[in-house]
Amino acid sequence: MELSVVKGNFEKEVCDVLVLYAFQTKKEEGGVVLPTDIALKGLLTKVMSEERFKGGSGQALFVRTDGLIPAKRVLILGLGKKEDLTLETIREATAVGFQAARSLKTKKIVLVIPCENEALFDVQDVTHAMTEGVRLAAYTFSRYKKQKKNGVISFVVMAADPKVVSLAKKGMAQGELFSKGTLFARDLVNTPAHHMRPIDLVDVAKEIAKKNPAITVRVFGKDRLEKMGAGGILGVAQGSEHAPYMVHMIYKPSVRTKKRVALVGKAVTFDSGGLSLKPADYMMTMKQDMAGAASVLGAFCVMSEISPKLEVHGIFAAVENMPSGKAIRPGDVLVAMNKKTVEVLNTDAEGRLTLMDTLCYAQKQKPNCVIDLATLTGACVVALGEEITGVMSNDQTLTQKILFAAKAAGENMWELPLEKSYKKLIKSTIADIQNIGGRYGGALTAGLFLQEFVDPKMPWAHLDIAGPAFAERDINTYTKKGATGHAVRTLLEFLQTF
Ligand code: BES
Ligand code: ZN
Ligand code: ZN
Repeated sequence: MELSVVKGNFEKEVCDVLVLYAFQTKKEEGGVVLPTDIALKGLLTKVMSEERFKGGSGQALFVRTDGLIPAKRVLILGLGKKEDLTLETIREATAVGFQAARSLKTKKIVLVIPCENEALFDVQDVTHAMTEGVRLAAYTFSRYKKQKKNGVISFVVMAADPKVVSLAKKGMAQGELFSKGTLFARDLVNTPAHHMRPIDLVDVAKEIAKKNPAITVRVFGKDRLEKMGAGGILGVAQGSEHAPYMVHMIYKPSVRTKKRVALVGKAVTFDSGGLSLKPADYMMTMKQDMAGAASVLGAFCVMSEISPKLEVHGIFAAVENMPSGKAIRPGDVLVAMNKKTVEVLNTDAEGRLTLMDTLCYAQKQKPNCVIDLATLTGACVVALGEEITGVMSNDQTLTQKILFAAKAAGENMWELPLEKSYKKLIKSTIADIQNIGGRYGGALTAGLFLQEFVDPKMPWAHLDIAGPAFAERDINTYTKKGATGHAVRTLLEFLQTF
């Protein structure tokens, strides 16, 4: 599939489908308006009214042109009401257009830029969203399919004004990078755990560093982790046949800077629950438990091209959580890298045990802030549903920056409190702290647990992505069942505007 921006007149362009976007208006204003006037005007209006096409968001209508213009058909995509328009509507509508065009087995599709003359959004942001709509909707995970889908379709975004063309090209390039990072993360998460072991995640990081001179990688094996006192990482890993690794990637910008951000990802390649074994239904999708690290790797895979003007550290501890004769037992006590002792009452609350050490290590890099991403608790999914990430932070400025970036990226995030009075729920009778809270508020007690390993002066945010990282059903036209690559676009947006 090829995407491009071309200067030209779409009314005169030969193609299989010409895509136009339409707003929904009140009845007295005529029902639907096409933002552009074309040679076919009468026909389109007639068919739209015959088919009762109202321009509602998500609606799509094909109209055959019968040789009146060189395009074989026009595809009208509804954007809903103009006053409700968001970039997300454009992303989704374009994805609907992609799907409709693909079902017709078309080869060349020409798209106009919606609301090009309306100054509602920057052309660059609009073409960025359109590109994501197409690329993310076109994704399939075909590694294990005999029949691979690969039709050649070219998408041409067309504008007449050279200034618009140049802005659109920039927007499309951005959209391509954001999509590439997201799809990279999707592939990692969709890959089953027997092909995505801790060592495989190490190789992925090394591969990224090999391709990008601005990125270096350090890998710490079991011996080094023992010397570092990473009791949590080692404790979780001890039941598995696969050795644990800590991976530390560093991106250095070409410009001199003192700004430094650390991104920490949960990287449990498979979470069986350990001796606190999960029921079969809950275990079925637990290859997703490295999605936090996958998002960090997704961001790193396009980092050099996004080229943020700050140093970025990507850190994760890759482990597998398995039951065995060597596995950690409920009741065992682990010592974290900062010497705090943890009573492990449930071996299925393993993410926080690996993160406690990883957070300690991340802070030693002296970053300006630390952001961790983790498929940490089922409780967060109960609280916010499957499509919203829970954000817990000790710093309001950082929270606002993350929520702002998420909004711009079209990803759903919502703040949850680090409620001090709930700290009593993770007090242990025999150690400094225990790894589970009570029956309720599980996302918050997990956040509070992590906070025990963060310097109060270090701006830190914890993103519980347990819901959105992996879709149990289709979410929208461009996010289908399976891994979503959630949070990659928010991270890139955040770094770009830091
Ligand atoms: N990896 C799971 C959390 C999870 C659940 C991720 C659903 C994605 C979808 C985590 O390690 C876990 O098992 N958490 C437990 C914690 C409990 C034992 C305190 C949970 O949420 O049940
Ligand atoms: Zn678990
Ligand atoms: Zn887990």
